[in-house]
Formats: sequence, structure tokens, C-alpha cells
Amino acid sequence: MSNPFLPFVGTLTEVRDLALGIRLLRVRLEDEAGRAAFADYRPGQFAFLSAFGVGEVPFGLASTPARSAELEFAVARVGTVTSALHNLEVGAPVGVRGPMGNSFPMEEFRGRNLVIIGGGIGFAPLRPVIQYALDHRADYGHLTILAAARAPNLLVFREEYEEWASAPDTELHVTVDVGDETWTGNVGLVTELQAKVAPSPDNAIAITCGPPIMIKFVVQLLQKQGFAPEQIYTTLEMKMKCGLGKCGRCNIGERYVCVDGPVFSHAQILQFIDSF
Ligand SMILES: Cc1cc2nc3c(=O)[nH]c(=O)nc-3n(C[C@H](O)[C@H](O)[C@H](O)COP(=O)(O)OP(=O)(O)OC[C@H]3O[C@@H](n4cnc5c(N)ncnc54)[C@H](O)[C@@H]3O)c2cc1C
Ligand code: FES
Repeated sequence: MSNPFLPFVGTLTEVRDLALGIRLLRVRLEDEAGRAAFADYRPGQFAFLSAFGVGEVPFGLASTPARSAELEFAVARVGTVTSALHNLEVGAPVGVRGPMGNSFPMEEFRGRNLVIIGGGIGFAPLRPVIQYALDHRADYGHLTILAAARAPNLLVFREEYEEWASAPDTELHVTVDVGDETWTGNVGLVTELQAKVAPSPDNAIAITCGPPIMIKFVVQLLQKQGFAPEQIYTTLEMKMKCGLGKCGRCNIGERYVCVDGPVFSHAQILQFIDSF
């Protein structure tokens, strides 16, 4: 059995700005073992990406294996390792460990309407959910996408809005906290947009990811809008070291976010919320 602490070697094949301080890194895995490990990763899973000689940190997988043989990560520059990753250029070697964690139960969601609400860099792990739903369009009902950021230049994957908005039985709404001279869309918090769009809880699943404060208020409003805790899913971010349930760095009570999560229903979160 291969050592799960050893990364697969990859090469950066694309580096581009997605938003202010956020870069898309595309990675080609160089050996067969790595490609086999990532052959069928799922929406919601994550991987550790390493800048050799600096360190490794976890990122949600922002791609799907059906759309790309290479892995995509949306990386916000916040500290040591993310800065080192931002400084790399196409052709640079990186390490990849994973795929890790559980995933959104897309099979269980079949036949349901999907409401996807993402804020800032938190939209990255939701992109594979959207891509998966669009690639299996007949399996899902109405798709409502709410994308938000503090400012227009912080919205990620804007170049894909047209594809999403024009997909069958799909609506896309975008808002920013503060607009700029180029912005003609909605201005206001994501919860204001959520109140305006008023997604129906009937036969629906809501999936949200973003800063903790955003998730808190989005989930509160979803419940006011009639969504039961079992109908709401999110992904949690805790500081992580091993990603394997061994080091105890990411635990909330008895749960290890790296192996029991990062995807949880709100009903599950309510069971261990006292531990936060
Ligand atoms: C499952 C999971 C998925 C993630 N997905 C993404 C993603 O798709 N894109 C992305 O840009 N980031 C993502 N993150 C967060 C990312 O791992 C951190 O930003 C990264 O670890 C920071 O490393 P650093 O060395 O650059 O920062 P450091 O120099 O270690 O710290 C800089 C700042 O970032 C904070 N920080 C460090 N680690 C984390 C963490 N795990 N979560 C939140 N804040 C942290 C520190 O408290 C500090 O304020 C994810 C984290 C997890 C656990
Ligand atoms: S990161 Fe080590 S137990 Fe989760």
C-alpha cells in the first residue's frame, strides 16, 4: 500500500487570476498511481496541494473528472503556503495528496430541486456540484444558483455564468456587497438576494458554502424559508494537518472534519454544534 502522507507529483499546466488575490491552479498528475487515485473523485472532496520546500495545505477540488483529466483548485492568497503557490508558474512541480473527505451525496439528491448559495472563495467547492448537476441534467429538478462576493472583482468563475444561466431549467442570480463603476447587477448581502429570490423548499436541497458568518445567516434564512435541517448541506473548513483522521487537528467533538466531512447536512451539524 502506498504511503498516504506522500504526495503524488504534479505539474502546473495553467495559472490564471480568477479574482483579486484568487488564482486558478490546474495540475496534471504525472504518474499512473496519481491519475488512478483521482480517476473518480466527487464534488465536495478536497486535496492537499504542496509547494515543495514550503508546505502543504488543503483545498476543495474545484473540477470534476468528467470535465477535466487535470485537477483544478481556486487558491486564495492568505499566508505562507498559498503565497508560495501563487508565486509558481506554469511548468512548476507541485505535490498533491488525496482525494480526501466525503462528498455531496449527489445520488441521494436525484429528483430534487437544487439551490446553491456560495460566497467568495467558498464558491470553489460548489462549482463541481453545478458542473455535475449540469452534466446529469435530467437527474435533477430546477437549479437555482446564488453567487455572492464582497465586490465584483472577488466573484470567482464569472466566465462560466453564461453557461450556467443558459442551462435548461436553471436560474443564476449574482450579488455583491459593494458595486463599482462597471457593476450593473444586484448590490446587497447574499441574504437580501436570497430573500428576493425566495427559493421554495418543496422537494429541494440547499447547498451553501462561504465564510462562516455568511453560512450562519444563509442557513437561518433557509430555515425561515421552510427548509428543514435535513435539506441543507454545507462544507466545513477547519485547520488540518494530516487529512487522514490521525492528528486530531480538525476535530469538532468526536468528528474529524477531514474524514467525516467536510460535507455535513445541517441536521448533522446540529448534533455536534455544542462542540464548536
Ligand atoms: C477542506 C478545506 C477546503 C479548503 N478549500 C479551499 C479552497 O478551495 N480555496 C482556498 O483558497 N482555501 C481553501 N481552504 C483554506 C486553505 O486551506 C487555507 O487558506 C490555507 O491552509 C492557508 O495556508 P497558508 O499557509 O497560506 O496560510 P497560513 O500562513 O497558515 O495562515 C494565514 C491565515 O489563514 C488562516 N488559515 C490557515 N489555515 C486555514 C484553514 N484551513 N481554514 C481557514 N483559514 C486558515 C490562518 O489562521 C491565518 O489567518 C480550505 C480548507 C479546508 C480545510
Ligand atoms: S487533519 Fe489530522 S485528523 Fe483531520
